[in-house]
Order: sequence, then C-alpha cells, then structure tokens
Amino acid sequence: MLDRMNIVIAGGSGFLGDALARALTSQGRDVTILTRQKPVHAATPRVSSVHWTPDGTAGDWARVIDGAEAVINLAGESIAAKRWSADQKRKLRDSRLLATRSLTSAIRSADRPPAVFISGSAVGYYGDRGAETLTEASEPGRDFLGGLAQDWETAATDVSQLTRVALVRTGIVLDAHGGALPKMLPPFRMFVGGPLGSGEQYMPWIHKADWVGLVSWILTAEGARGPLNATSPSPVTNAEFSQALGRALKRPSFLPAPAFALRIALGEMADALLLSGQRALPVRATDLGFSFRYSTIDEALANVLA
Ligand SMILES: NC(=O)c1ccc[n+]([C@@H]2O[C@H](COP(=O)([O-])OP(=O)(O)OC[C@H]3O[C@@H](n4cnc5c(N)ncnc54)[C@H](OP(=O)(O)O)[C@@H]3O)[C@@H](O)[C@H]2O)c1
Repeated sequence: MLDRMNIVIAGGSGFLGDALARALTSQGRDVTILTRQKPVHAATPRVSSVHWTPDGTAGDWARVIDGAEAVINLAGESIAAKRWSADQKRKLRDSRLLATRSLTSAIRSADRPPAVFISGSAVGYYGDRGAETLTEASEPGRDFLGGLAQDWETAATDVSQLTRVALVRTGIVLDAHGGALPKMLPPFRMFVGGPLGSGEQYMPWIHKADWVGLVSWILTAEGARGPLNATSPSPVTNAEFSQALGRALKRPSFLPAPAFALRIALGEMADALLLSGQRALPVRATDLGFSFRYSTIDEALANVLA
C-alpha cells in the first residue's frame, strides 16, 4: 500500500484534469497541478499549482515529482480548438511530446520516482477502423492522430524501468459542460439534429465519471500497465448515438449533416474527429476488475443531461 499521497497532474487545469483533481482530493489525496499559467491559489482545498515550462526538459518545477505518489500527464494543445493547419498540427504534436519528455526527464532525475506514471493517449491511436472490434492489442492507425498517439505513448514508456507506466487511450468523454457533447447539442435543441456523414462510424464514448473512476483506479491497480482503453463497454455507431441523443432531449434526430459540408467547415479535422471511428473496447480494465457505472449510452446521456 502506498504511503505517499501527493499526485501531480500535468495539464490538470483542463476539462479532465480538473474533474480528476476534485475526485482525488475527496479521497484524501493532495494534488499538485503543473500549469503554464501563473500559478493561482486554487479554489479547491488540497489542490495547489506550480508553474512549469514543458519544453522537453526538467526545470525547477521537477522538485514536485520527487516523492510524489503518482504523476498523471494530461497536457496538450486542444485537438478540436482550431482547424488543422500545418502549424496547428505541429503544436498538437510538440505540446504532447515535449510535455511528456519533460515529465520523463523529471522522473529519471528523481531520488524517489513515483510509483506510477499515468500518461494520456487517445483512441485516435487506432485510426479509422469501421466496425472492427479494437482491443489494446490492435494495430495502430497510419493517419496523423495514429502517428501522434504512438509517439506520445513511446515517449511515456521511456521510464517503464523506473515506474509502472499506464497509457490511457481516452475515447469521447461525455459531460454536459465540457468536451465534445456541448458542441453537439445545439442542432438537436433546434430540431435539426442527426447523424454525421453516413452515421456508420463508431463512437467510443465514456461518461466523465467513469473516466475519472478509471484513472483513480489505475493509481492502485498494480496490474494496470501499458495501454488501457478508457471507453465504455458498449460503443455505438454515430447514428445510434444521434438517436439516443434525440431520445434524451426529446427531439428528432433524423437530419444528417453531410460529410462534404463538415469537410468544408472543418477541413481535415472533420474526417479525423467526426467522420471516422473506433469500436474500441475496454478489455484490459474489465479483465483487471474495473466496473463501469454507465455502460449503456441511454443511461449515460440520461445522467449527463439530467
Ligand atoms: N476530453 C476528451 O474527450 C479527450 C478524448 C481523448 C483524449 N483526450 C486527451 O486527454 C488530455 C486531457 O484532455 P482535456 O479534455 O482535459 O484537455 P484540455 O481541457 O484542453 O486540457 C489540457 C491542458 O493541457 C495544457 N495545455 C494546453 N495547451 C498546451 C501546450 N501547448 N503545451 C502544454 N500544455 C498545454 C493546459 O493546461 P495549462 O494551460 O494550465 O498549462 C490545459 O488545461 C489531452 O491530451 C487530450 O488530447 C481528451
């Protein structure tokens, strides 16, 4: 059993990190957030923040890693914030790889390395795979996100001789106030919702509470190492998701958004984020005994939109 109770979260100011930090403090842990912003006295008790420069090296901030129970890596430029110009793609990539290298460098130089390093990854690892069932053992995709996720995971695995490394391949995290769902709601609320493109692409969704539960569980699940899909046990197609969203909002869900219109509006992002899909299953987590609270899309949406 671990006696150290401080958890460091890089990128902990974001959508997932903030929810995770709150959950961990409610379990009696202290959380230190690494942020590029001016550190603020956090409003949440037991959470403090430390300024860092994620440039691939360890700086002064690395002192917070020495003796921490765990390091969790969620830092990275937002995937969906801007159109993917060549410059934006470089930012998406560099922000993840440099942040990861800064953390591994700090772990390597720590006198007391953390017991576990949980590093972010994404279902984009698998590329666009139609209805193929994907487990953690499946081959990676060959597109931009597939290459990025592979390099991101390889960078994190660099310290696997020093600490347990878990790679969390996160799916589409469902929450009413952050992530992808709030962006999907307006057309449904205006009675013009429906599937994106053919609607046949799979959506590997996960309720935010289950994502937080899974990452908290990995902290002490000694067998949880290497890649773990953070996705619900029942992925649905985009058409099924649209129908479920229509049911939850009591709105129609039959007006498709044509693929060409999404491509005009969003460029390459449309294919990578909306029109492609992964039927990813959380095989590692379920084999190791993790149970999901929300395993059907109707239960998850009913809770999130309540
Ligand atoms: N949300 C999802 O559904 C989802 C799905 C799959 C994968 N993921 C991955 O999970 C991780 C966390 O997701 P999230 O939704 O919490 O993201 P988020 O809200 O965008 O937060 C990410 C954090 O990373 C830091 N950051 C932003 N730009 C950066 C840069 N250029 N260099 C270094 N750090 C930077 C920011 O912290 P500071 O400004 O405080 O430094 C930010 O709060 C991300 O890597 C994301 O790709 C998320």
